[in-house]
Amino acid sequence: MINAGILTASDKGHAGDRIDESGKVIAEFLRGIGAEVVDYKIVPDERDIISSNLKRMADELDIDLILTTGGTGFSPRDITPEATLDVIDRQVPGIPEAMRAKSLEITSRAMLSRSVSGIRDKTLIINLPGSPKAVRESLDVILPVLPHAIEILKGQTGECARK
Ligand code: MTE
Repeated sequence: MINAGILTASDKGHAGDRIDESGKVIAEFLRGIGAEVVDYKIVPDERDIISSNLKRMADELDIDLILTTGGTGFSPRDITPEATLDVIDRQVPGIPEAMRAKSLEITSRAMLSRSVSGIRDKTLIINLPGSPKAVRESLDVILPVLPHAIEILKGQTGECARK
């Protein structure tokens, strides 16, 4: 069983001016792989607030997988990747590389997402873009690989070879 957390970074969502459709899409996809969503929070686009929530989910709630949405673009308030880099020990560049590579087949704007992914102790953190459409397209690419990633992270398997 994967314990998951969802962190939506959105000034408008936090203020109640926008419904967080992207958070709902993530929850739906997570249920599809049998993950349990144990924490879900909407926070403003503030570096310290994002990073302290990532730390809380990883260190206090022992969450295996944190998916963030929003704040990966170019607007002055987009700060999710930097807040993520503040808390991870090791980067996992292949995950955002795969999301961008596949998404570029759909829209050239995919290159505008600055999302990062990394490991904090036994927690995998992945930034997704903000729109529900972009979240769906990105999760389609990475979700099938995540159960294996979490297994390795938790030391439940060291075996990657397939027959
Ligand atoms: N990725 C996919 N798969 N589909 C999309 O429509 N939109 C892009 C990009 N990634 C998009 C995508 C756009 S338009 C932007 S500006 C960036 O994600 C950053 O989005 P964010 O600031 O909402 O995180």
